[in-house]
Amino acid sequence: MCRPSKPAQGSIGPPKKAPPVATFEASPALGPFVRLAIIGCGNMGSAVVRGLLDAGWTTRGEIIATHPDPDRANEISQRLGIEATTNNAKAAKGAEIILLGIKPQLIKRALQDLRGQLKPNQLVISIAAGISTRFIETYLPDSPIVRSMPNLPVTIAAGATAISAGSNASANHLASAEEIFRAVGIVEVIPEYLMDAVTGLSGTGPMYVFHFLEAMADAGVRMGLPRDVATRLSTQTIRGAAKLAELSELHPAALKDQVTSPGGTAIAALHVLRREAFSAIVMDAVAEATKRSAELGD
Ligand SMILES: NC(=O)c1ccc[n+]([C@@H]2O[C@H](COP(=O)([O-])OP(=O)(O)OC[C@H]3O[C@@H](n4cnc5c(N)ncnc54)[C@H](OP(=O)(O)O)[C@@H]3O)[C@@H](O)[C@H]2O)c1
Repeated sequence: MCRPSKPAQGSIGPPKKAPPVATFEASPALGPFVRLAIIGCGNMGSAVVRGLLDAGWTTRGEIIATHPDPDRANEISQRLGIEATTNNAKAAKGAEIILLGIKPQLIKRALQDLRGQLKPNQLVISIAAGISTRFIETYLPDSPIVRSMPNLPVTIAAGATAISAGSNASANHLASAEEIFRAVGIVEVIPEYLMDAVTGLSGTGPMYVFHFLEAMADAGVRMGLPRDVATRLSTQTIRGAAKLAELSELHPAALKDQVTSPGGTAIAALHVLRREAFSAIVMDAVAEATKRSAELGD
């Protein structure tokens, strides 16, 4: 059962469809009913909403999203079947949890909208790359802030998210944020100084995998396979290998040794990857993304 939700003033398009039955049991940290405001509902905000709805963590009636443009707010409302408004402060007002889903470059504006509008018991969760809890606290000094770095697979409940607490956030606040992101994948609690590294690794990570997938499929096509066959085989290979690594107690290097027989195909391919410094290229890419995350917060 979910608490009946009240539409915020100035809101657009109340949910059209009946909400799904919630199967998720909220932890004592959150209590059974949580109203969620998504301030900035683009790619990641929408991904979190979809993930939470599919996981049965919440219902459409408990979520409100914002966009400064009325037409875009309406589009978000239609697309996700949730309430949407142009007014950040009003959306945040009735929410227990406020998720900041805005680009780092634009977050100041939204924080200005929220300044002086929040109660100390409202939890603010930011997903903005590079933006520190200390920066957010300059606008919201009394609010508990949790900084998070999810990644795109939260949309299919296969996300990898790291979280860290700001100075006003208690263990319970951290547990609430953890609960949200655990509904859509795995969660690691980390000290905040490591957040840029997480952004470079798992936050940016789906791009590395998509790029590698494209390269594998191209390689198959180059060797004569039809594109669709090469793409399906490559996708399933990445999925299967990741699943095996997840379920196995072996180190990835030991798994690699298992498929590398003497004088075989794998060792021939590995020779090329080692010669071309594949590992160093990946390490450099992650380092560059980590550096960029830190720059975004400057
Ligand atoms: N994409 C990823 O894989 C990923 C992963 C982890 C974390 N993140 C973080 O997630 C955040 C959002 O990224 P994204 O890729 O989802 O960006 P996005 O698609 O641009 O979504 C942000 C949304 O917020 C809207 N917006 C801008 N100013 C606003 C305001 N003042 N009030 C309310 N809404 C406003 C934007 O509208 P306009 O389009 O009109 O500007 C857009 O719809 C970023 O901080 C990013 O660092 C992203």
